[in-house]
Amino acid sequence: MLTKAVRPIFLVLKIRTDGTTRRFQQSGIEIKMNKEIVSKSRNTKLNTLVAEMTALCKPDQIHWCDGSDEEYKSLCDLMVKSGTLFPLNQQKRPGSYLARSHPSDVARVEDRTFICSKTKDDAGPNNNWTDPAEMKKTLTGLFDGCMRGRTMYVIPFSMGPLGSDISHIGVEITDSPYVVISMRTMTRMGKKVLDVLGDGDFVPCIHSVGAPLKPGEKDVAWPCNHTTKYIVHFPEEHAIWSYGSGYGGNALLGKKCFALRIASVMAREEGWLAEHMLIVGLESPKGEKTYLAAAFPSACGKTNLAMIIPPQGFEGWKAWTVGDDIAWLKPGKDGKLYAINPEAGYFGVAPGTSMKTNPSAMKLLDKNVVFTNVALTDDGDVWWEGMTDETPAHLIDWTGQDWTPASGKPAAHPNARFTAPATQCPNLDTSWDDPKGVPISAFLFGGRLSHTFPLVLQSFDWDHGVYLAATMGSEATAAAVNQAAVRRDPMAMLPFCGYNMADYWGHWLALKSKVSHLPLIFRVNWFRRDENGKFMWPGYGQNMRVLKWVVDRVHGRAGAVDSPFGQTPRFADINWDGMPYESAKYDRLMEIERTSAIRELDDQGDLFSCYGSRTPKPMHDQRAQIRTRVESAQAVWRPSN
Ligand code: GTP
Ligand code: SPV
Ligand code: MN
Repeated sequence: MLTKAVRPIFLVLKIRTDGTTRRFQQSGIEIKMNKEIVSKSRNTKLNTLVAEMTALCKPDQIHWCDGSDEEYKSLCDLMVKSGTLFPLNQQKRPGSYLARSHPSDVARVEDRTFICSKTKDDAGPNNNWTDPAEMKKTLTGLFDGCMRGRTMYVIPFSMGPLGSDISHIGVEITDSPYVVISMRTMTRMGKKVLDVLGDGDFVPCIHSVGAPLKPGEKDVAWPCNHTTKYIVHFPEEHAIWSYGSGYGGNALLGKKCFALRIASVMAREEGWLAEHMLIVGLESPKGEKTYLAAAFPSACGKTNLAMIIPPQGFEGWKAWTVGDDIAWLKPGKDGKLYAINPEAGYFGVAPGTSMKTNPSAMKLLDKNVVFTNVALTDDGDVWWEGMTDETPAHLIDWTGQDWTPASGKPAAHPNARFTAPATQCPNLDTSWDDPKGVPISAFLFGGRLSHTFPLVLQSFDWDHGVYLAATMGSEATAAAVNQAAVRRDPMAMLPFCGYNMADYWGHWLALKSKVSHLPLIFRVNWFRRDENGKFMWPGYGQNMRVLKWVVDRVHGRAGAVDSPFGQTPRFADINWDGMPYESAKYDRLMEIERTSAIRELDDQGDLFSCYGSRTPKPMHDQRAQIRTRVESAQAVWRPSN
């Protein structure tokens, strides 16, 4: 926590407001000023922003968040009183709470997410777009008076270690105390950030649940707007406005909105990467540490892989967690790519987490956790599908109703989440908070694909790797409603890239000439199924077998064979100690069947067609080369033949 020695001194500054209409430099909107704002910051841009937002949103009060334990506790108490938080059994889960969101507010809303760049083409075909001036008009209307009856919280936060030259500062303005306590866990937040900010620049993140209160009106447990939601990004201005939702990535604006959508824009401008990736360090019995960054779409196993525990057969190996969702990577002076986790906590999917699948996450959840939309047990603890072998006979489900196994519906929402501080992770890497970041030796990309794609393959070179990443596909998740069963999710960034995806591929390709020690690139697929629909690969801790091959490839000590899609391990290249697996089954797990490979390549061509002439030429070249390889290989390619 904050020590007295580093406590910043605040200037108390009064901004005079005179009742006249002014066009504001921050938001570009016209607001009538009629209040005097007392500021706790000496940052001119911030003081102006707070003044503008006060005038526009018309909150009852303003609270500048200091990030202290006392503030956290008092906001939790406030939310217990208002019914937003339910304190869990303090013997079983000290310092932990349960929140139940409104059933209309349970996941990110991709269909309400906008990239409002100056031109529609700069947002690209996969993003919703509206002219920025028009969107500002809409938002000004929605935000006018939206915080009536509520407190406006000002949250200064840093994405990344304070003071790191890879980090960036944002300020979220919100009317949700749930957002404040979540941002306290998920970011470095409070007074210490204002001190580092000084008079520097930051990303303004404006948020409202969109549920003003009339005088005397009683608040609901989960205020949000049931009809209107907007998650809006202005990439040229590096600004974010979010309205109507209080859940996850819609509302904790440091996460997807800033650390991915706006940061991806900043990264392109400045020559770095902002990615939907976990970061994990693998330590060999000899103490050699290799860091990997891995991109998987939402709910495809990043948290599990980030916290992997080496299974039987990997005695002496250790895995260390740096991050589970987002990586910022910058080229270092030594020519390597260095990664930080811009977050300070985990906002992880609860269902499926158990002592079997992810014991580290279970330990992480012992205390000081806010659970959202999980089920409540009769003794005041939490439960979710997949947590235990035995299902409790009675629960209160995520909607607050009595539940029994006969209810015929899940007790926890499938996108129920936990918010927990990174420092509680039992295998947290010693460098997780290092301002320099950690050097990345390999990138992994993996979707959820039941067919066509083998367990693992390595790209032949950088361009081929970018191609493998760009053509990643996955079967649908919670935030992607109304999507076809399989969607292309380039680099797991489809919902998170703040500019034209084709330009983003170009940015990745261009790294080749900017980074001398490029990471190797791999595609993985834990999700291949057999003809009976059963997973062919046990996954979870056993994924360590694949990671070890990757590490050995990095250090030039593992073999591989060329397949039409890339270099793959032969049966003998994988360590099978402690887990019997038949070589014939391995052959099927790795096989590439010509008909489905051609179908896949045609589909990949459709992806590139969507982006027209913006698609970089190497993408077309790679596709042609893979097609040639597929056509000249056996009808069914297997590592053993
Ligand atoms: P976001 O936080 O949404 O970005 O997602 P995430 O990638 O961190 O998701 P998470 O780790 O919570 O994914 C959990 C889902 O992946 C659950 O449905 C798990 O059952 C599944 N999963 C994770 N690892 C494996 C694996 O190795 N094999 C299989 N078959 N499923 C896995
Ligand atoms: C995701 O959907 O990829 C998440 C959860 O990590 S949220 O923060 O809600 O976007
Ligand atoms: Mn994510």
